Amino acid sequence: MAKLIGGVGTSHVPSIGAAIDRGATQDKDWKPFFDGYIPAKKWMADKKPDIAVVIFNDHGNSFFLDRVPTFAVGVAENYKPVDEGWGPRKLPDFKGDANFSWYFADKLVENHFDPLICSEIEVDHGLQVPMELLFGHPDNWPVKVLPIWVNTVQYPIPTPQRCWDMGVLLRKVIESYPTDETVVIMGTGGLSHQLQGSRAGFINQEADLAYLDGIANDPEKYRNMSREDYVETFGSEGAELIMWLVMRGAMDKQVNLIHKHYHAPASMTGAGMVILENKA
Ligand code: DHB
Ligand code: FE
Repeated sequence: MAKLIGGVGTSHVPSIGAAIDRGATQDKDWKPFFDGYIPAKKWMADKKPDIAVVIFNDHGNSFFLDRVPTFAVGVAENYKPVDEGWGPRKLPDFKGDANFSWYFADKLVENHFDPLICSEIEVDHGLQVPMELLFGHPDNWPVKVLPIWVNTVQYPIPTPQRCWDMGVLLRKVIESYPTDETVVIMGTGGLSHQLQGSRAGFINQEADLAYLDGIANDPEKYRNMSREDYVETFGSEGAELIMWLVMRGAMDKQVNLIHKHYHAPASMTGAGMVILENKA
């Protein structure tokens, strides 16, 4: 049986990728942010998972507002990094595990999630940036990916409870998969930010810091919040944090907070991460 080895929550801000590309990670504005990922990279290198399930939202790159799936799952063998308009990035393609993906897609439908199933699609910074933050820049990625897209862009977005429930199912899927892969789950997005409207530039550091502890030790609080609570507390784009709940729903009730990091502002956002391991 496959095994869940841990959960990661992390920001996926596109300017992180841009900072890496222009060699700015050691600049004074960016160094404190990137330094916080050093222990996370080490954790990942020690754990050596076979598969990374990455939960993220597309940002108008592979889906546009003309068609917005609430949930989508990738079943491809290969995912190219999408060119988001400033030219292709020097990142290797992401390799999928089509067998595992189809198994998950089947279980989603069996359990009434009914996702869009994507066999040909490119992935944007929502997946690219977490992968480079946790795995660095190898010639080839050391894990296969299972991408899960969640609509956090166009209202109505799914409820936090629904994201959590998908995580509960994801755990069952991993533990019923007949071969012995090790799996890490990465919930991405956030932390607080708002890129539009009268609150553009909004950041809520206090709520961000509470979330980083709370997602580990008091996750029910965040599962029970409404979508509107997320927008109000974390900003319209900070509502991306509902995607961390897929990761958290897959973990045990009792977890150890292995690593936590926060930096604000990174670009226009509160940014950071957690690593969780099941206590048992
Ligand atoms: C920005 C975009 C994002 O997708 C995100 O999660 C945070 C910030 C941005 O464009 O600044
Ligand atoms: Fe985003």
